Amino acid sequence: MERGVNNGQSLWHSQSPKTPTTMLDRALSSRRPHSDADLSDSGESGTDESKTKRPHIYLLASNFLSRIGHQWWPCLILALLFLLLLLLTSLAFHSSSFVCISRFDPAARIGFFGLDGLESDFGALGVPWCRSKHGKEVEWTSKDLLKGLEEFVPIYETRPIKNNMHGMGFDHSFGLWFMARWLKPELMIESGAFKGHSTWVMRQAMPDTPIISLTPRHPEKYLRKGPAYVDGNCTYFAGKDFVDFGSVDWKNVLRKHGITDLNRVVVFFDDHQNELKRIKQALKAGFRHLIFEDNYDTGTGDHYSLRQICDQSYIKGGGHSCFKDSDEARIRSKRKNFWEKAVDTEELCGPGETWWGVRGEMRDDFNHSNTLISYNQHFQNSRYVESILDVYWELPPVAGPSLTHQSRYDPARSTPPVVEDGRHRLFQRLGLGRLDKSVFNGYTQMVYLQISKAGS
Ligand SMILES: C[S@@+](CC[C@H](N)C(=O)[O-])C[C@H]1O[C@@H](n2cnc3c(N)ncnc32)[C@H](O)[C@@H]1O
Repeated sequence: MERGVNNGQSLWHSQSPKTPTTMLDRALSSRRPHSDADLSDSGESGTDESKTKRPHIYLLASNFLSRIGHQWWPCLILALLFLLLLLLTSLAFHSSSFVCISRFDPAARIGFFGLDGLESDFGALGVPWCRSKHGKEVEWTSKDLLKGLEEFVPIYETRPIKNNMHGMGFDHSFGLWFMARWLKPELMIESGAFKGHSTWVMRQAMPDTPIISLTPRHPEKYLRKGPAYVDGNCTYFAGKDFVDFGSVDWKNVLRKHGITDLNRVVVFFDDHQNELKRIKQALKAGFRHLIFEDNYDTGTGDHYSLRQICDQSYIKGGGHSCFKDSDEARIRSKRKNFWEKAVDTEELCGPGETWWGVRGEMRDDFNHSNTLISYNQHFQNSRYVESILDVYWELPPVAGPSLTHQSRYDPARSTPPVVEDGRHRLFQRLGLGRLDKSVFNGYTQMVYLQISKAGS
């Protein structure tokens, strides 16, 4: 894909990795104390004018009372009633700030806490990214993502499967569409189709490109019960013809499809299998461009993921802290109160302080086949992956939690969103405000990998 796409120009270029401190810095700077100017505006500066005015107001009041004489009681009652009314109105206006904050309503929470960094401190709990061999990065920029979003929203609104519970939501549908369109493959392969939503997404990106779909249950079976998508230019290895990705005779299949350059093939995995296993199988077959839908964070998910493989492996003596009184434990338990999928130390750490994978387990096949691995194996796995990794790119969430009202994934462990919190007008302009909020809840760090043999 490096050549032959984008008019023969290289799709990739080297950049220094974005440092997570940018977000941290921003979160911290938003909490700096008021400037002198702020203070004088609010009447808290050194000169207290109210002191000089007080005798004057006092004189006016006593003059007024002496004029109304014994009739001042009804006036006082009226004034008290007026004050009470004012107080009640103000209470009603601000009630959401201190009466009914929903535990999982981030918008209300941000209003309540202010920008205290809860929503934007990626990196505070470690940076779980894999490092590419030569520091290569993708060519597309956040501007390209924004342009893509504008185009994709109306397409997404025409999707045949409106309720894709257990399948992809908006963020990953956008990511798959965007990458397929950018990479312009000659063949797209998907493993794990469910009702066919991801097949439909790939078709929107590449109207004429053949697709191969491997999935145990044929999507047409779902058509009997409700919406599903079956593609006319797709070879299905499904139902009685199902073959697992690792057992396909790829040489034969690719020859039948007239594919000679494996660099022009994109493989999309949404099959909940151990991603290390899938990478090894893909590399053996010669594929280079892989997208993994569920790139679960450490301590979560039903299969071993890229994130788990690369998390903190480079820290001498081990990464995350399992001590109950550690800073990490405190931050994690705080965040657990706000984000459904945030992981506290108790969930993170298994017996013997095994924090890697999911409590020391390398999971596979929808949590049906799990193996305990040692820290040393975790370390070796990360070394192996990084030795074959040309590019590692995580799709950012499309928009900040105060905009999407997503309440599941923890922003402390995800990259800054394409549309950052506070950019309400941009969110609306892109059409994102028209979508049901539930479609933003499925973000699990979709990742694009470009791989090549170690040492190359
Ligand atoms: C999360 S769903 C896929 C969702 C789909 N991509 C979408 O966008 O709606 C996972 C799918 O993987 C399928 N699956 C299970 N084992 C598999 C395997 N070994 N190879 C390929 N697919 C598998 C399941 O039957 C299921 O349809």
